[in-house]
Amino acid sequence: MFQIKQSRHLSWGITIGGSKNAALPLIAASLLLEGTTILTNIPNILDVHDFIHFLESLGCDIRFKWDTLTIDASVVSLDNIDTSKIARTRAGIYFIAGLLARFWKANIPFPQWDKIGKRPIDEHIHGYTWMGFVFTETKEKLCFSGDGSTKDVTISAYFAVTATNNLILWATSRIWTTTIQLAAFEPHVFNLIDFLREARVQIDIRYDHTIIVHGKGVPKVSVEQEIISDYLQSGTFIIIAALCAEKYIDIKQARIADLSAFLYKLHQTGVKTEDLWDDTLRVYRADSLQAVDIQTNIFPGFPTDLMPLFSVLMTQCNGISRIHEVLYEGRLNWLVEYERLGGQPRIINLHEAKITGPTELVWNSVNSWDLRSGAAMVIAGMIAEGETEVENIYWIKRGYDDFLWKLQALGAEIEEKD
Ligand code: EPU
Repeated sequence: MFQIKQSRHLSWGITIGGSKNAALPLIAASLLLEGTTILTNIPNILDVHDFIHFLESLGCDIRFKWDTLTIDASVVSLDNIDTSKIARTRAGIYFIAGLLARFWKANIPFPQWDKIGKRPIDEHIHGYTWMGFVFTETKEKLCFSGDGSTKDVTISAYFAVTATNNLILWATSRIWTTTIQLAAFEPHVFNLIDFLREARVQIDIRYDHTIIVHGKGVPKVSVEQEIISDYLQSGTFIIIAALCAEKYIDIKQARIADLSAFLYKLHQTGVKTEDLWDDTLRVYRADSLQAVDIQTNIFPGFPTDLMPLFSVLMTQCNGISRIHEVLYEGRLNWLVEYERLGGQPRIINLHEAKITGPTELVWNSVNSWDLRSGAAMVIAGMIAEGETEVENIYWIKRGYDDFLWKLQALGAEIEEKD
């Protein structure tokens, strides 16, 4: 658990680290290359370590030093394969393409549904069967096998990020053209595309969310690629600055351009920001805030992953703020945790909630339901009176690198306890 004392005098600046959702597909892509993969700006998070564990069980030679991950996947075998750790990640599904490319079969743990709602994978399955693979499933495993189809195909990802990445990955290994319609255009999808273009894969993008991959078989090259910084972490620290800065906090490598919808809503509440040099955002403490309504959407709309963080700001806004969560039907349930801190959330239905503010939050023991709501509870603890305990911080460690250290460096009174 984290123990947090009210911390509203933060100062200095913070540099945002590499993106979890960008790093995971690129690490999985290393299995597709007949060469060395060097990834820089890799976040030091549990999901990354789980991916490394899996690749090592296949026999990959891996070095992880500072924030650079070097993967040599030239010799791999299934003899000691261990899927136990990727079983606890949704992104383990990214290994289908690499395993098929190497062994013509891929048995992957069934991704679990979690507390943010149903997490279907129908677009992944549909795409791989459309690309010619045989799919079977057991209670625990997804199994793909076969040779894949030998013709150009057109498939849909229906704007799902992981489905888009997953289909791009296999499309790279085919020697036919794959047209992926209704592709997700989140920034991390483009990090994967940049990586594959470095591997000399020809990929065309059309304005109507279509990605066309002209595969030429497994690329026989070594590639170095930088992981983009995490706009979701950036959004998290923007909320922290608005609520907890003494005066302001400078957020470096903020990916300001990826946060347009989030910043638009932030400014409507009354928070002031200033673009400095080189993608640095200065965020000023705001003491008088106005209620706003948000609706989550696919990129470049308001990110669903930043909704829980924004809800903390809403508890401090004057009036009633409304949340319309479009993507997931379980992502508002955790709002009940605010009641323990004296907040006034009202869950209207699976997709809508209201938060009335401003509320003086007071200490209590609260739970971390998932990665983003866990981080939201940490911020709530920083503005609440007294000493708040946030339990189950395992979730936070899955996706925020050095969160504790970064908050302490800004001046937050936060400690980790057993
Ligand atoms: N969906 C389908 N069918 C599919 C795949 C997805 O219906 O085959 C639906 C989902 O149910 C959801 C929507 O499409 O309603 C979005 O799915 P997507 O594939 O985009 O999301 P995801 O795989 O569930 C990734 C991130 C999430 C992030 C979402 C939305 C990874 C590993 N996970 O999840 O990240 O919330 O995209 O941007 O990239 C997080 O970082 O906290 C997190 C949960």
